[in-house]
Amino acid sequence: MEISTMLKTLQDPMGIPFYPIVFQVLMVLTFALHIMFVNFTIGTTFLSLYGYLKGGEFWGRLSKSMVKATTANISMAMLLGVAPLLFVQVVYDPFWYASNALSGAWVIGFIFIMMAAYGLTYVFYLKKDSQRGKGFALTGITALGLFLLAGLIMHALNYQALQPDKWLGWYMKGNAVNTSGTSLQAFQLPRFLHFIIPSFAMTGIFLMLYAWYFQKREDMDQGYLDRVGVIGAKMAFLFTALQAVIGFWWLLSLPGEFNFISNPIFMSGAGLGLVLLALLYKAQNAPLKYAVPAVTGAFLTILGMSYAREALRMKYAGRFGYSIFDYKLNIDWGSTVLFLGTFVMGLIIIAYLLSIAYKSGRTAGLYDATPLMHKWGRASIVLLLMWIVIVAGLGIIISVRNYL
Ligand code: HEM
Repeated sequence: MEISTMLKTLQDPMGIPFYPIVFQVLMVLTFALHIMFVNFTIGTTFLSLYGYLKGGEFWGRLSKSMVKATTANISMAMLLGVAPLLFVQVVYDPFWYASNALSGAWVIGFIFIMMAAYGLTYVFYLKKDSQRGKGFALTGITALGLFLLAGLIMHALNYQALQPDKWLGWYMKGNAVNTSGTSLQAFQLPRFLHFIIPSFAMTGIFLMLYAWYFQKREDMDQGYLDRVGVIGAKMAFLFTALQAVIGFWWLLSLPGEFNFISNPIFMSGAGLGLVLLALLYKAQNAPLKYAVPAVTGAFLTILGMSYAREALRMKYAGRFGYSIFDYKLNIDWGSTVLFLGTFVMGLIIIAYLLSIAYKSGRTAGLYDATPLMHKWGRASIVLLLMWIVIVAGLGIIISVRNYL
């Protein structure tokens, strides 16, 4: 069977429930958010370990703040990983499922790897100041190693998915089929590094933001914050420069027929990256002043690059005549409205949680919420209850109907 016919055959015969462009935009947006928090996770884990091993007042203090940040960053990375997971399964199902089946053991193992990494991060976080020793350093090192392994699995699954012409070769071992799923079949170093190295640039920006955020608190040591800001700006600049070099390495390793260097989406992403680099260069003299523009610029660059990654996937898939825009459309307004309603409601509730965290963290002592914040909090609870009733109600009605 031709590969293009095979891919079509593997698509969901029901078609997709809404226009593919909507899935694509949301997939790219949520992937950009996912990878940003992945970067924060890896970078803050590394920095907390570095500070712990180096010791001393400054590094000890920074290490404690960073490991606390890791616990929040990893939760966000996981939460924001689920969204692109759902979208990629909708529009690229033949690719994603085939790649997952080829490495099934790793896909299942991924869950346990994440659980172990998450647990070890907490052991490292909850240690007391008096508890210093190799054992605790080992928990941090193992957590970092497991985060990197999780990234490697995700990378292999994505890269395998792009090469349907090799699937059969990977599935066969000699004359027999290999259904064990215990191998990761594809790895591309520049692509992998392109997602991992920014961890150190993004954590530099994270440090700039940390210093900017706490400067308003009277109980914080300004000398400490200034030093954190300077280290952050340096890290951000150097690793963004390194990232640009790795980006070109990746670009040069792509199949020549893609002519990706002239792709307008790639050019926009790369252009944003260069603007960010210039901004970070200027930030060296005033890291706190540039903290917010730097994180805005970094997110826009990540978004641009995430769209470039999607444009690249379209090139790979296009080699086999596959385009998500040819997917059979079977518009389902009910599920679409429920989905978009859930999405908007989620944004309202998350914005409330973030506002509370932002305001309370900037207050020394007890935070007293304004009446508006109280109203927003109550509205969020009502929305959540309504959502549970609607979703559970629909589930029950549909299940009962199916059995009647
Ligand atoms: C610390 C843990 C994690 C790391 C380091 C990590 C890293 C990565 C990297 C590097 C990629 C891009 C790979 C490539 O394109 O070559 C990626 C993609 C992806 N990750 Fe994660 N990830 C982590 C956790 C998760 C979790 C928990 C989920 C799901 C709940 C998830 C879901 C995804 C999905 C679905 C994609 C592909 C999205 C797409 O194809 O557009 N990741 N991840």
